[in-house]
Amino acid sequence: MEDISGKKKQPMYYFQESKSVDVQESAKLLAKASGVVALTGAGISVASGIRPFRGKGGLWEKYDPEEVANINNFIRNPAASWVALKEIMDVVEVALPNPAHLALAALEQMGILRSVITQNVDGLHQEAGNSFVIEFHGNTRRTICLECRAVYAVGEINMDSLPPYCPACDGVLKPDAVFFGETIPRTALEQARTEIQSCRIALVIGTSGMVEPAASLPFLARDYNAVVIEINPERSFLTPRVDYFLEGRAEEVLPLLVEQIKNLAGK
Ligand code: APR
Repeated sequence: MEDISGKKKQPMYYFQESKSVDVQESAKLLAKASGVVALTGAGISVASGIRPFRGKGGLWEKYDPEEVANINNFIRNPAASWVALKEIMDVVEVALPNPAHLALAALEQMGILRSVITQNVDGLHQEAGNSFVIEFHGNTRRTICLECRAVYAVGEINMDSLPPYCPACDGVLKPDAVFFGETIPRTALEQARTEIQSCRIALVIGTSGMVEPAASLPFLARDYNAVVIEINPERSFLTPRVDYFLEGRAEEVLPLLVEQIKNLAGK
């Protein structure tokens, strides 16, 4: 079995050593591809001032996810969860796309990138200009009523006291993000699987690969013979099983990739 790089694919159960290749080699692959899908995690928004969840300086050093982003705790005591969540949401609200987001938008413009599956809840891919963004874990720029499921933009609701309540039915509003103990929205899950199963290259950017089911998507891509390219300044849980590992920050590696692709295409 060969992939589009002409490389022999390894069966899934075989743990191959990932190899470091330079950006140029990946750029060559991307330049001739069209059905490329990106899977992004918290790392891509670090340069926008949003801290990642895990690792040094991660949000979960300050907050216990089981406390603040667990659906059962939230239902029991929404006010307590909201105080911590509001702090995170305030950062997200003012964050702007960084060069990594803009590079993915440029890849779409060039007809290379088809879709972005993001675990991030910050809406920055849409703001950067990507048109098909699958929000795997929701979006904290929106809230959802636990009773009537009405959805409101954060700016539309009164947050003077926490928790905020639904203007229509007075139910408790929750950030429209997927909490621990909740399932992935069905449409997002189905769209993500369809995108991943039909892509030629999967770009996996800034995720630790520790949270399922998103963590399995790169392997699903490999099952369907896509080349998996990972961009991360550190090795992740996914790294041993990707095809190419570009060690570096997304905001540096992605613009470099775009530049190289443009050079190759003579643009
Ligand atoms: N560029 C690229 N990657 C980076 C950068 C950067 N500038 N800075 C850090 N990273 C990498 C880290 O090395 C790490 O592998 O980003 C990754 C962030 O990992 P996590 O904090 O675990 O974020 P993520 O994988 O998105 O978490 C998945 O977990 O808590 C839940 O729902 C939450 O969506 C989140 C999910």
